[in-house]
Amino acid sequence: MTEDTRSVRLRRVGTDDLTAPEVEAIRRLLVAAFGSDDEERFTEDDWQHAIGGQHFLLEIDGDIVAHASVVERELHVGGRPLRTGYVEAVATAPDCQRAGLGTMVMREVGSYIRERFELGALGTGSHRFYERLGWLTWRGPSYVRSPTARARRRTRTATSLCFRHRPAPRSISRRPSAASGGPATCGSGGGRWRR
Ligand SMILES: CC(C)(COP(=O)(O)OP(=O)(O)OC[C@H]1O[C@@H](n2cnc3c(N)ncnc32)[C@H](O)[C@@H]1OP(=O)(O)O)[C@@H](O)C(=O)NCCC(=O)NCCS
Repeated sequence: MTEDTRSVRLRRVGTDDLTAPEVEAIRRLLVAAFGSDDEERFTEDDWQHAIGGQHFLLEIDGDIVAHASVVERELHVGGRPLRTGYVEAVATAPDCQRAGLGTMVMREVGSYIRERFELGALGTGSHRFYERLGWLTWRGPSYVRSPTARARRRTRTATSLCFRHRPAPRSISRRPSAASGGPATCGSGGGRWRR
């Protein structure tokens, strides 16, 4: 039996405190993890949505192998504005996946959001990954708020929003109802739903 002597470190860094080599390594990781499929690939636009908050970096022997970031946004649920930790750019390097690293990152992200925000949110197609960590899938409509457009823009149907808030506030049920009073909306400034 061989002993695993690799050093594993999980740290949180603000965008402004990332070094240029760290930014390069994170972006390389994101591009590799999301792949080259036109619908899925990680774009410059995606990166712009992932910065301006806190980055969670998981390193093995000094190499960044998993990442997520949390940026502050204001979501309105049933008309009520909620200070939200929005999770972006969740990825594990392809050769390190299915080893629990994404889970380690998302547990840390969950604690951070619980401590500092009223709500956590993210857009995903990988529901199982998040639901097993306590996230709930929003099954009602969601829109991007725009100060200029007369009509709100409906979010892409392929995109689902997950919420995390424990205990879930009474105003947030998974479907809009008398209790929630309406759909979920996010401001257009960096708040575009993706994935
Ligand atoms: C999704 C992702 C971050 C998961 O990272 P990971 O380090 O492989 O995750 P873990 O090893 O902690 O996964 C634990 C469990 O989550 C579930 N899971 C993992 N990846 C999943 C996926 N893509 N979809 C659904 N469930 C997933 C599985 O149940 C897995 O347990 P198992 O291996 O025993 O079946 C990684 O697959 C990835 O980078 N994918 C490409 C980019 C992406 O899709 N990011 C998320 C978009 S919101």
